[in-house]
Amino acid sequence: MKKFNITIAGGGSTFTPGIILMLLDYLEEFPIHTIKLYDNDEARQKTIADACEIMLKERAPEVRLLASTDPEEAFTQVDFVMAHIRVGKYAMRELDEKIPLKHGVVGQETCGPGGIAYGMRSIPGVLELVDYMEKYSPEAWMLNYSNPAAIVAEATRKLRPNAKILNICDMPIGIEELIAKNLGLSSRKELEVDYYGLNHFGWWTDIRDKAGNSLMPEVIKHVTQHGYATDGTSELEQQKSWNSTLKKAKDIQALDPKTVPNTYLKYYLFPDEEVAHSNIEFTRANEVMEGREAFVFSECQAIIDKGTAKETKLTIDEHASYIVDLARAIAFNKKERMLMIVENNGAIRNFDPTAMVEIPCIVGSSGPEKLVVGEIPRFQKSLMEQQVGVEKLVVEAFEEGSYQKLWQAITLSKTVPSAKVAKDILDDLIVANQAFWPELT
Ligand code: NAD
Ligand code: G6P
Ligand code: MN
Repeated sequence: MKKFNITIAGGGSTFTPGIILMLLDYLEEFPIHTIKLYDNDEARQKTIADACEIMLKERAPEVRLLASTDPEEAFTQVDFVMAHIRVGKYAMRELDEKIPLKHGVVGQETCGPGGIAYGMRSIPGVLELVDYMEKYSPEAWMLNYSNPAAIVAEATRKLRPNAKILNICDMPIGIEELIAKNLGLSSRKELEVDYYGLNHFGWWTDIRDKAGNSLMPEVIKHVTQHGYATDGTSELEQQKSWNSTLKKAKDIQALDPKTVPNTYLKYYLFPDEEVAHSNIEFTRANEVMEGREAFVFSECQAIIDKGTAKETKLTIDEHASYIVDLARAIAFNKKERMLMIVENNGAIRNFDPTAMVEIPCIVGSSGPEKLVVGEIPRFQKSLMEQQVGVEKLVVEAFEEGSYQKLWQAITLSKTVPSAKVAKDILDDLIVANQAFWPELT
């Protein structure tokens, strides 16, 4: 049986150990020869790599691990590149969140001006990874989680149209896991879903069991009362900010009671409340640095210090399972139904064919085949048109080095109240992002 080589780009990510643990879980059906970690921060990656090396020695000594900052070494002879880079790291995420907040606007990793700022940093970072992959392993597939996925997907569609890159998001499956729990099912894998939208901007229109029975009335009933809250024991609900986000889905759902929404819509539909509840001294970036980042790096350091991973609290999660399922669907032509961010091209009939939309696809060895969504209602269509305009303008601003277009993009975001506020935010973001953005004229 063929053994696969996998590069994890953004090897120093907090999500790397989980993905490696997941790959180990599937070794029998998805054999691995080598896992390569690639990052441009050698020291950060080393802690993760040294800990993962100990994990591998104990659980699967036949799998080779290599950590490198050299693109040729990292991208040569690989079958899959799993990408999750964060250009500018948490320090820049903190500014993405705090600069808009200073102007009374939502401060979020992927939505509004913060997401736009992050997009302008991510585009060149992800394009560089695509180019390395095409140069050193032209047959490989890149499975990309790097955010903001909507803007990254539009950039790769437009600027690298032939690249074998698939952009994905773990939010729908994270929510589906909660829905399954509330339905008394063992996992989201017992569900089949109809969903459409943009990344971090979508709606479920039906949820069925594997026999084809619609579970939607029961799902809607729960969301109408509790949002996506469960009994409080899920990992997401343990975190303060996610706990309130999951409950807030109830108010988003009230706008279209026949569907259930992606939680990220709250930033566009309730921006004033979001700002009122934010603390500019302590945003989600701070929560993540003190939470997930501190936890993962201290667990890795503990593995290194003890020389064993036998007692580690690092675990696998849905995030890891989704990207590994995608790799297996391609590797073994599994024709698995998965949500993917793909060029619309008629799948949503009454929507821009060139928009990158998030919809169900059947994934096999030649990539995703889109399923037809059909016509969508005016409310969703109009919201999506505005948001897709933002995403396309950001990519045009990047390509052309255009201040004007980036100002238009920020102005067009539903999170921003006026062109004046948009300009003030943009001017602050330009100063903060000097080391990352192209020069804008
Ligand atoms: P992190 O900062 O812990 O890890 C990112 C790593 O990328 C860092 O080690 C950093 O040094 C590295 N990096 C930055 N720029 C790079 C470049 N140009 N080349 C190579 N490496 C580079 O971040 P994290 O919290 O683990 O998240 C990683 C990424 O995954 C983020 O973009 C995050 O938004 C994304 N993510 C996406 C989804 C999704 O639904 N699509 C889900 C979870 C995380
Ligand atoms: C969700 C989203 C991702 C986001 C992730 C982590 O899963 O789909 O796009 O990156 O949350 O967010 P956090 O705030 O925990 O870093
Ligand atoms: Mn996402």
